[in-house]
Amino acid sequence: MSTPLIAGNWKMNGSLSLVEDFARGFADATLPECVDVALMVPFPYLEAAGRAWGDTPLVVGAQTLSDRPAGAFTGEVSGEMLKELGARLVLVGHSERRILFGEDDAAVLARVRAALACELTPVLCLGETLEERDAGRTEAVVLGQLEAVLEGLGVGERPRLVLAYEPVWAIGTGRTASPEQAQAVHGAIRARLTDYCASLAEDMRILYGGSMKAANAAELLAQPDIDGGLVGGASLQVDDFLAICQSAG
Ligand code: G3P
Repeated sequence: MSTPLIAGNWKMNGSLSLVEDFARGFADATLPECVDVALMVPFPYLEAAGRAWGDTPLVVGAQTLSDRPAGAFTGEVSGEMLKELGARLVLVGHSERRILFGEDDAAVLARVRAALACELTPVLCLGETLEERDAGRTEAVVLGQLEAVLEGLGVGERPRLVLAYEPVWAIGTGRTASPEQAQAVHGAIRARLTDYCASLAEDMRILYGGSMKAANAAELLAQPDIDGGLVGGASLQVDDFLAICQSAG
């Protein structure tokens, strides 16, 4: 069984003082022996987080990256730049990027490639909208998003990815997928990974995201194919996030 990963996503929230709060809160925190913890912070806080969290278990991550390595792309930030500032992971294909910023499967694949090229671990987000779920298309949508990346990369590469299933209707709504609903999709993702490569399926962590909080984390994390969480709102408070990390033991 892989080590669970609890990753927070601050989105466009937070501050330098919140970076310091997390440094203090996690410095002496008691965590389960076997859990990885990361926080995806906005670009401007990466360097401060890297410095402040050095003595804590918190790993620094970013929320997106350019699909290009360098050049005349005003406003873009490359994977190498993120790495230089201390990021180890980067979110790719979050539904907010797909829906609000028009990132389609090709754009997502290009960003996964860019992350892998500079040895950042992409956390590839997958998820269906409520309309798609109601139309009975959940698996088709989620597995389609997954295949667009796996086929683009080629299995031979055994990509060093983390996956995150985030039903769009559960993000920021307080409406969490039930453990059974989440497990059903995680199980389908695992089965599709197994079709590609059995050992890849075993090793790849599949996180659940969507209104995860201290009160529901343990039950979700107890599902056989849920290997961690991607936490939005509840990652903005030290105590809430810590409680989720503690329930991963
Ligand atoms: O990436 C995390 C996310 O989209 C879930 O957000 O606020 O529902 O936990 P939230």
